[in-house]
Amino acid sequence: MGAGMAITGCGSAAPAKILNNHHLTQMVETSDEWIAARTGMSNRHIASPTESLSELSAVAAQRAIAMAGISPDNIDLIILATSTPDDLFGSACKIQGLIGAKNAVAFDLTAACSGFLFALITAHQFISTGSYRHVLVIGADVLSRWVDWTDRTSCILFGDGAGAVVCQRSNNGDRLLSSGMYSNGSQNDCLNLNYGGDRKPLVEGITAQQGTYNPITMNGREVYRFAVAKVPEAIGKAMFQANLTADDIDWLLLHQANQRIMDAVGKRLGIPQSKILSNISEYGNTSAASIPLALDAAVRDGRVKPGDTIAASGFGAGLTWGAAIFKWG
Ligand code: ACO
Repeated sequence: MGAGMAITGCGSAAPAKILNNHHLTQMVETSDEWIAARTGMSNRHIASPTESLSELSAVAAQRAIAMAGISPDNIDLIILATSTPDDLFGSACKIQGLIGAKNAVAFDLTAACSGFLFALITAHQFISTGSYRHVLVIGADVLSRWVDWTDRTSCILFGDGAGAVVCQRSNNGDRLLSSGMYSNGSQNDCLNLNYGGDRKPLVEGITAQQGTYNPITMNGREVYRFAVAKVPEAIGKAMFQANLTADDIDWLLLHQANQRIMDAVGKRLGIPQSKILSNISEYGNTSAASIPLALDAAVRDGRVKPGDTIAASGFGAGLTWGAAIFKWG
């Protein structure tokens, strides 16, 4: 049997500026009541032109490292889950430099709103095999850069932020009890942030493409249906693998896409609303950041205590989804 993993620190950061539902009514045909009732959202944090994903991530990472009581030198691997890097070559190494984790190898991982869960499960693989002792997992996104601010069906949903956890080899058994990751590319067109460059003739007979990405397009109803069907299934499988029932779960920690999705998943699993961790009203959907942001708030305000059993699930573009059950601390 491989080494076990424990999650021993968390941290988060969000931009200072807040865009509320009333601001959105000045931009598109919508209302505070519609947004609150359909999504549970009131505010979202928006990165200013001078803020960067790397800097937000570095702050979240430093807070997680401080809570874990280790030094940046101890980190062997940094995995940055993001769909919105500052640099298409990846932003994990930039963060490595900012936090001074000079012994770490760093890379980006892209799986949209499932990114943090996928990165956590990847960290578990490296720790289980004995390759690495300390892995920093960051989930961060600045989707405000890519939202179509004229599309009321999607622009109301997204905000920016970063969250991080420190995973380390455990002396106390494997604290990640079970996990699973899934993809369904046949529904890829439900949620996209596609490249959309223009033709750029180079020489006779050879034309390249150059330009940027198009704003987010989303089939909200399809994504909603997918989430409500697949997330309970993934968590149910993970609970079965870990030999747990709904009563054993202290907290349901879901990607914060829509309060109605979270409530429906809780209901399907028989987990009461009082056990659902939610920060959606303050942050909206922060994509890969949403799970560690919600976890960090709950750990710091004392709701989540060492030894609590958390069922986490991320889901989003790809389509991708995944679940992990772990004991905090
Ligand atoms: N304000 C007012 N009315 C609106 C708005 C708005 N902002 N947006 C849509 N409407 C209208 C629609 O036009 C529609 O009007 P119609 O009946 O006249 O056609 C009506 O409201 C209902 O629209 P629906 O799309 O059925 O609304 P729904 O209850 O499904 O809520 C929502 C839409 C919030 C987008 C929901 O479908 C949802 O949350 N889906 C999941 C989206 C999601 O999680 N995406 C991110 C995934 S994570 C990732 O990977 C990035």
